[in-house]
Amino acid sequence: MKDAAPGTTGETIYLADYTPFGWTVEDVHLTFRLAPESTRVISKIRFVPNPEASQERFFLHGEELTLVSAKIDGQSVSPEITEQGLTCAVPKGAFTWEAEVEIAPAKNFALEGLYMSNGMYCTQCEAEGFRKITYYPDRPDVMSVFTVRIEGDEPVKLSNGNPVASGEGFAEWHDPWPKPAYLFALVAGELVAHPDRFTTRSGKDVELNIYVRPGDEDKCAFGMEALKKSMKWDEDVYGREYDLDIFNIVAVDDFNMGAMENKGLNIFNSSCVLASPETSTDANFERIEAIIAHEYFHNWTGNRITCRDWFQLCLKEGLTVFRDASFTADMRSEPVKRISDVIDLRARQFREDNGPLAHPVRPESFQEINNFYTATVYEKGAEVIGMLKRLVGDEAYAKALDLYFDRHDGDAATIEDWLKVFEDATGRDLTQFKRWYSQAGTPRLRVSESWDDGTFTLTFRQETPPTPGQPTKLPQVLPIAVGLIGPNGDEVQETTLLEMTEAEQSFSFSGLGARPVPSILRGFSAPVVLQHETDTETRAFLLAHDTDPYNRWEAGRSLAKQALLRMITEGAEPDPAYLGALQTVITDETLDPAFRALTLALPSEDDLAQTLHEGGTTPDPQLIWEKREEMREAMARWMPDQLATLYRVHQVPGEYRPDAEPAAARALANTALGLLTRLDGGEAARAQYASADNMTQQLAALTALLSIGAAETELAAFYEQWKEDRLVIDKWFSMQVAFARPEETADVAAALVAHPDFDMKNPNRFRAVFGALSMSQAGFHAPSGKGYALLADWLIKLDALNPQTTARMCAAFQTWKRFDAGRQALIKAELERIAAREGLSRDVSEMVTRILN
Ligand code: PHE
Ligand code: ZN
Repeated sequence: MKDAAPGTTGETIYLADYTPFGWTVEDVHLTFRLAPESTRVISKIRFVPNPEASQERFFLHGEELTLVSAKIDGQSVSPEITEQGLTCAVPKGAFTWEAEVEIAPAKNFALEGLYMSNGMYCTQCEAEGFRKITYYPDRPDVMSVFTVRIEGDEPVKLSNGNPVASGEGFAEWHDPWPKPAYLFALVAGELVAHPDRFTTRSGKDVELNIYVRPGDEDKCAFGMEALKKSMKWDEDVYGREYDLDIFNIVAVDDFNMGAMENKGLNIFNSSCVLASPETSTDANFERIEAIIAHEYFHNWTGNRITCRDWFQLCLKEGLTVFRDASFTADMRSEPVKRISDVIDLRARQFREDNGPLAHPVRPESFQEINNFYTATVYEKGAEVIGMLKRLVGDEAYAKALDLYFDRHDGDAATIEDWLKVFEDATGRDLTQFKRWYSQAGTPRLRVSESWDDGTFTLTFRQETPPTPGQPTKLPQVLPIAVGLIGPNGDEVQETTLLEMTEAEQSFSFSGLGARPVPSILRGFSAPVVLQHETDTETRAFLLAHDTDPYNRWEAGRSLAKQALLRMITEGAEPDPAYLGALQTVITDETLDPAFRALTLALPSEDDLAQTLHEGGTTPDPQLIWEKREEMREAMARWMPDQLATLYRVHQVPGEYRPDAEPAAARALANTALGLLTRLDGGEAARAQYASADNMTQQLAALTALLSIGAAETELAAFYEQWKEDRLVIDKWFSMQVAFARPEETADVAAALVAHPDFDMKNPNRFRAVFGALSMSQAGFHAPSGKGYALLADWLIKLDALNPQTTARMCAAFQTWKRFDAGRQALIKAELERIAAREGLSRDVSEMVTRILN
């Protein structure tokens, strides 16, 4: 479909087609005259011919703008305007472009460009939102210094960089660091600041603020501490200092994503920054800390060094996710963070990599870049960096990063630049490693063992299944961390890194006294599916003895999975060997309670469905759900006294603190509570609900009651207590869907969207209901097809307002080919119904087409 007009539905953009822009931008002056229905944006931009490019055609992006006037060097011009932008005849040399446009932020429900949220003005420009603010070369390789003047009555008026002037009805900001337009931000409204200060290691004093709506002041302290910890950590670990006089964070209720790293003015979905013990769970606190770190770390990995084009998105996102994960590991528990990240990777990235939406970490084409802010670009992108670090070692990694910052500060860089830095710093050839960026799909790693007279040999075979557009794959570099455990449980070989580069390769360990048990892929050293045929005894042995906490957890996980798969496919009883091994681990008081809580959790329904599908069995979502319930029941009946003891021993007395240690105790106690509730009819949960003084305890009790269908009173009380708090009410919406019985899930969701508090324009609220619906496998895939139809109805409605959020939610259908012919037909019909809509957005059209093919 190469012939479609640029930027319209159907046009595909290719990495291979990259060409630089014909001009560089020397500086940008913007004036905003704010008004909800008719904001004027006056721009003055200095263009200079780019000696490395052709000046054939002067094109500026611009969408949904009304051009009031345009001048070049003071002379009025009449550009040719299309839906995507404008072209204009321009002088040969440098020139000044001036334009005035009108936009309507109050009518902007796409939440891209300048829009309004609860009466407050705010912007979102990544990836291509700046073109909805004014005409501009809206591409990340065009970097410039911005000066911004904001005119309006709003008491707070913010933009990037440092404040330079303000007075009655205006404020001016200047950002000295050249940046692409996607990092531009503006906020204006009735906001209050939670202020603080930070002194950088070279003694620079920085003003810090978290701006929120009046009433939310008491939810800023935790975020501020997280920000200061992040600033310190980036100095200590990466040697990166902050580079402006001021750093502002703003909380916004209506936001498509989690948060945005605009230079000096990060904008956050309020759910990712506001925190208080009464309204936020332990998991919320941890996530907020991580996202604040993530956005702050972008100042160097994303802003000072940005991306040449959007195909390089993983350059900033993979690296910044890798950095925020290291930060969390340092602030909290490293093994617990690793285990949680792998659970998340398998749930979201493996799912993507194994279906119609699979794409390389660096995609080679797209129609709508917003559709590529994916688990593959972010999370697999971070895994690739983790592998690189393992392969070269910590010291060489640090050296390479220093070189990266030295060499590319101020650049719009590429993955080639990134890998070159590692090659130059280490002397390694990374040609084969680069396949991690270009080949989609999750490698399958098959292992076999042999033992011969003191020598133990592991033979690995790697194979990556075909993905859309990539029928065959080449072998990748796999760092495989391995340890060996002797028969008595002692480690006979410490963790060693095997570097696999061939399709099939063997590694031997000699001089061993007895045949060891291998612990393979320690720390999940590569993002692969490990296929290792072992028996229950060996897994139980590793669960008891492995010194690598990740693999210890994995041994328990694979025992659980094996037991569940037998229940599903053979009608087996819950495996006593698994229950016995589990009991030993959870009562071992030398183990971190958070680790034990993770060990008590079962593999997800989605994980089981994927495994069944891959083994040639069509998964039945209802059966999977029932067998997981049966297993939980069996766990509770197997060790009621131990669970009751765990619940009692791990209560955390005193004032709530969100730190890792008390959070770990709560996680274990609440996991035990969930199981105990199946035995006591909800007595303990009701008592906990009644006495809870923090959201972690309150929500754990409520969800335990919901899962046995006995939460009516508490659910109503919860609503009454929290009806004024948008973020808590989001929880109220989502938990009812998430914990419904599968045959009722779609009806519960349908009833909730009829509730007066349901507001489809607010992405958090929309996701609370429909995210929970699509994540409840058995409910969403109930044989009636009601779940599919309800979601499709609402995707169609939302697309007219907010294509970006709609498109992301289409991914709910990505697993459709796993299921039986009846379900496939129902889903296909819904996807085709969406695809046939007139005026469908480019975002949704691309997603639906990819899923259907
Ligand atoms: N760049 C943001 C982040 O990862 C994510 C984002 C993308 C936010 C697009 C808004 C729009 O930190
Ligand atoms: Zn990011």
